[in-house]
Amino acid sequence: MGSTAFGAGNKIIFDTDPGTDDAMALMLALNSPELDIRAITVVPGNVTAKQGLENALRMVSLANRCDIPVAAGAEHPLFQKLITAEFWHGKNGLANVELPPSKCKVDPRFGPDLIIEMVHASPHEITLVPVGPLTNIALAIEKDPSIVPLVKEVIIMGGSITGGNVNASAEANIYNDPEAAQIVFQAGWPLTMVGLDVGDKTLFSKKYLDRLGQTHGPMNDFIYQVAHYLIDLSAQFGSDGTPMYDPLAVGVAIDSTLVKAPAMHVDVETRGEFTRGETVANRHGSVERNVLHGDRYVIEGVDKVEPNAKVCVEVDADRFLEMFVSRLRGK
Ligand code: BDR
Ligand code: CA
Repeated sequence: MGSTAFGAGNKIIFDTDPGTDDAMALMLALNSPELDIRAITVVPGNVTAKQGLENALRMVSLANRCDIPVAAGAEHPLFQKLITAEFWHGKNGLANVELPPSKCKVDPRFGPDLIIEMVHASPHEITLVPVGPLTNIALAIEKDPSIVPLVKEVIIMGGSITGGNVNASAEANIYNDPEAAQIVFQAGWPLTMVGLDVGDKTLFSKKYLDRLGQTHGPMNDFIYQVAHYLIDLSAQFGSDGTPMYDPLAVGVAIDSTLVKAPAMHVDVETRGEFTRGETVANRHGSVERNVLHGDRYVIEGVDKVEPNAKVCVEVDADRFLEMFVSRLRGK
């Protein structure tokens, strides 16, 4: 067992496509006593499934946490071709930082099966934290829908109600597997959406990087290099810092008071010509009831729609960024 083996915190399964900000999120989770990472399942997204698995294994090894099962999952999205993002995350997905080969071994179980098994083993205790495309989570639901009422909570990094990052409407994790996302959003479990709306407000800037540079340790130094790469990349696009998308989802799992998240009904657009992958949120909780009368429809009233998600709209960014740096310093 490693130096940061906590075990007393909230049980989470971290589903990830590592990924630079995935790496920052994982390191935050590994260094937070409020969380007990029971498993890491890998999904293709930022990089291929194979590269993602290699990255996850190297990171748990760096953290000296071979006790955490790391399992491979899906190899591609449910119904479309994989889109990888080395353009943003570096050739190896980890900002081109070469971590030492892993001393940890891959768990032989299929990621979605591992999720199913662990949820049944700890009913009402597991929080799922998916920070990549939702393929693995959707496969788990499809294979065993009985897990849905047994999961404590799902905290997703994905989506946006104010425009996308892939294009005008869609956020990358949802765009990369919209059908899977729609399954996950409609499953009927307590779900929090940590989308671009709040991620874009949590910019890790040079000020925070410099503080991380004052201390040293294997994880501290790794995240320093990753963050340095991301800050330089953001500067090329005119931004002062790098958005902490995936780390914020972990931040919300640690402390939900970091965000304001009103309940809404969210659907994932799977067919739109310009909007495939958009998370469409009903903010007022109702839809008009249109009834056919002869050759036209007449509005006869308003029907209530039930919320299926808490959608993060505000974040205490400074408090979160301070927390991130303080957890990683010297680790
Ligand atoms: C999301 O897409 C990925 O590139 C990041 O890791 C994050 O999960 C942001 O849209
Ligand atoms: Ca990710």
